[in-house]
Amino acid sequence: MKKFSALAFILAIILILSACGSSQDSSGDSKKGSSEPKKTLKVGTDASYAPFEYMDKGKITGFDVDFLKAVMKEAGYKYNLVNVGWDPLFVELKNKTSDLGISAITINDERKQTYDFSKAYFLSTNEILVPENSKIKSAADLKGKRIAVQSGTTGQEAVEKLIGKNNKNIKKFKQNTLAIQELIHGGADAVVADNTVVEDYAKNNPNQKLKVIADKKAFAPEYYGLMFPKGSKLKPTFDKAIETLYDNGTYEKIYKKWFKVKPDVANLKA
Ligand code: ARG
Repeated sequence: MKKFSALAFILAIILILSACGSSQDSSGDSKKGSSEPKKTLKVGTDASYAPFEYMDKGKITGFDVDFLKAVMKEAGYKYNLVNVGWDPLFVELKNKTSDLGISAITINDERKQTYDFSKAYFLSTNEILVPENSKIKSAADLKGKRIAVQSGTTGQEAVEKLIGKNNKNIKKFKQNTLAIQELIHGGADAVVADNTVVEDYAKNNPNQKLKVIADKKAFAPEYYGLMFPKGSKLKPTFDKAIETLYDNGTYEKIYKKWFKVKPDVANLKA
C-alpha cells in the first residue's frame, strides 16, 4: 500500500511537471498576446559607412544607429545591432539569421525581389569623390578612369551603367573605406558612393585634399529603407513606427543632430 502511494505520488509529479513544460512551450510559440514579451531582434549592419554607421571607440555609431534606436523604442522591441559586414548582411537576411538590416540600404527593384523594405527614411544620391586637382568634372569624364567602389552597392551599379559591367577599370572593395583608401594611395582616380558619405569624408579629412562632384543627370535619387527577409511580419509595425517618428518630430530631431539642417519629411512620406 505504501509502495503504491509513493509510486502514485511520483507519477503525479511527473504529470504536473510535463504539463507545465508543454504549456510554457505553447505560450512561447503561438499565443502572441500583447502581454507576451517580444523577442529580441538581431539587426545587421556594415559599420564602415560614416556618418550612417561607423565604429567610434569600439561602438557602432551614426545617424542610422540613432534612428534605429528611436524606431525600436516606438515599435516596442529590444534588439542587438551587429556589425556583420555588407555582403554577409544580404546573406543573413536571405537565410533569416538576422531579423532586419539597417545600413544606408537603397530600396530598389532588384533587391525587392529577394527582400522586403520599410518605408523610406532617407534621400540619397551617388556622387564622385576625386582629388582636388582632378580633371574629372562629371560622370561622363569617368570613361577611361579607374574607379573604386564598394562591391554590391548602387555605386557599383551606377558606374557599371556608365562604363560597362565588365570594365576592368572598376575596382571593387568589401568596404567603402577601402575604396577611399585606394583613391588616396593613387590606385584609383575616383570613388562613387552616397553623397552624404563622400561629402562627410572630404570635409572631415582636409589633409587628403579631396573634392566631391555631383551629377544629377547621371545619378538618380535613391531612398534608404530598413531591409527585412521576404515576408517578414515586422514590416507593418516598423512602417507605423517610422510614420510616428515623422509626425512627432523625433525624426527631425535626429536628422538635425547629424546633418544640422531640417529634413524634407514631406518628400520622404510621399
Ligand atoms: N546606398 C548604397 C546601397 O544601398 C550603399 C550603402 C552602403 N552601406 C554601407 N553601410 N556600407 O547600395
